[in-house]
Amino acid sequence: MPTVTETVREIALNHPSSIRVFEQFGIDYCCGGRKPLAIACTEQDVEVGTVLAALADAASESRPALTDWRNSSLENLAGHIVSQHHEYVKKELPRLDTLAKKVIAAHGSHHLELPEIQSTLQALDQELTQHLMKEEQVLFPYIAQLERALATGGARPQSCFGTVSNPIAMMMQEHDGAGELLAKIRQLSGNFTVPPDACPTYHAFYEGLKEFEQDLHQHIHLENNILFPRAIEMEASSSR
Ligand SMILES: [Fe+2]
Ligand SMILES: [Fe+2]
Repeated sequence: MPTVTETVREIALNHPSSIRVFEQFGIDYCCGGRKPLAIACTEQDVEVGTVLAALADAASESRPALTDWRNSSLENLAGHIVSQHHEYVKKELPRLDTLAKKVIAAHGSHHLELPEIQSTLQALDQELTQHLMKEEQVLFPYIAQLERALATGGARPQSCFGTVSNPIAMMMQEHDGAGELLAKIRQLSGNFTVPPDACPTYHAFYEGLKEFEQDLHQHIHLENNILFPRAIEMEASSSR
């Protein structure tokens, strides 16, 4: 566990989970990070005990056990996807863009792959922003209405897209596009391997990209493999 005498930079390097805590308390873990945690906390006017407790929490935080969504309602599953994964994407993309700018300012002249990673990330941002909006405003509400109609014996909801398979095919195609952009980022970054001269911000950037990839993989799995096939099956059963 981190101690008050370790420098902020050492803690950031040894415990990647600490970076979000430092960001939360406004503690500089990068250029100004070569000072003991106790002094950094005093300068930032925060209780060192509070920061240590937050660091311990962050380190012990494990990903919640994966829920088996195969038997939950589709409305609940879509709600989970939006609250966990869509909100994460919306919060994380601007943070990663800020980190990219900082890393390019400090290291861009020696690491020419960085500007390409940034432009790929921006392309991903554009694609995902549109994609999430279509799911949240059109597809997911339709699936929830369809489910309710089936449960209550009501009429199948009207849609502008014919069968639900049409928007689903489009969403799956967009998932492939996002997956390709992520794979390009992984390849450009050498599997998120920081170079020996990397500063803590560089570490935070690559760590963030890696987590982003993991989260998007889980997110797409829930849609492609559970939500979408069940919605197609549900629609087919409603018209039988
Ligand atoms: Fe989604
Ligand atoms: Fe999606």
